[in-house]
Amino acid sequence: MRKNIVAGNWKMNTTLPEGVALAKAVNDALKGVDAKCDVIIAAPFTHLASINEVIDKSKLGLGAENCADHVSGAYTGEVSAPMVASTGANYVILGHSERRQYYGETSETLKEKVNLALANNLTPIFCIGEVLEERENGTYLDVVKTQIEDALFGLSADDFSKLILAYEPVWAIGTGKTATDDQAEEMHAFIRNVIAGKYGNEVAENTSILYGGSCKPSNAKALFAKPNVDGGLIGGASLDAESFMGIVTAF
Ligand code: 13P
Repeated sequence: MRKNIVAGNWKMNTTLPEGVALAKAVNDALKGVDAKCDVIIAAPFTHLASINEVIDKSKLGLGAENCADHVSGAYTGEVSAPMVASTGANYVILGHSERRQYYGETSETLKEKVNLALANNLTPIFCIGEVLEERENGTYLDVVKTQIEDALFGLSADDFSKLILAYEPVWAIGTGKTATDDQAEEMHAFIRNVIAGKYGNEVAENTSILYGGSCKPSNAKALFAKPNVDGGLIGGASLDAESFMGIVTAF
């Protein structure tokens, strides 16, 4: 059966000492609860090795927010999947809408990133989602289907089974405007159907599909109660241990 997962995406926030302190706070808070989901934090590259030293990895997973589409070489400023893996991280967020929008990431580059992540035993948390115009003009289901097909459907069933997906409607990210639980459920059920069409029911049923976009303690319970919503990818609310834990304990 698929896992329930709550993952924090810190984005470009926290200095190294602040990040280590936040990771410790989440780690400590987890000791006191019987979490009904896997918990992951995705932090800036500069923080990963230090955070890896202070957390109990059996309770708290660690991920990067991106990796390069090349394995090594003359790519100044890039950080490769083997480098991420060497910090102790086990996950990597790929295809976040902010990477697609501001850094021109395409399905072609994302294919390479997914392959390199998998080759280095990193679990990709692969993001998909439509912009407001696509939501309003009714093309949102097709848009998300195409994102999945173009970047991921070259994978074998075995490799696809290693992915975590995150549906993040761009209009809901950082805006305070959450998708309703019914809007999330419609899309998540649709995504599961698209996966089933390509890889069969078993792979589809075993794929965790997280919701992201203004998820907070006050709305997490209703979202997570939906049958096809398997958890959340949390931005702003993951920067405070208490509010992040409020979402973790919504399961
Ligand atoms: P917010 O939770 O801040 O809306 O961000 C969501 C997100 O982009 C997580 O990847």
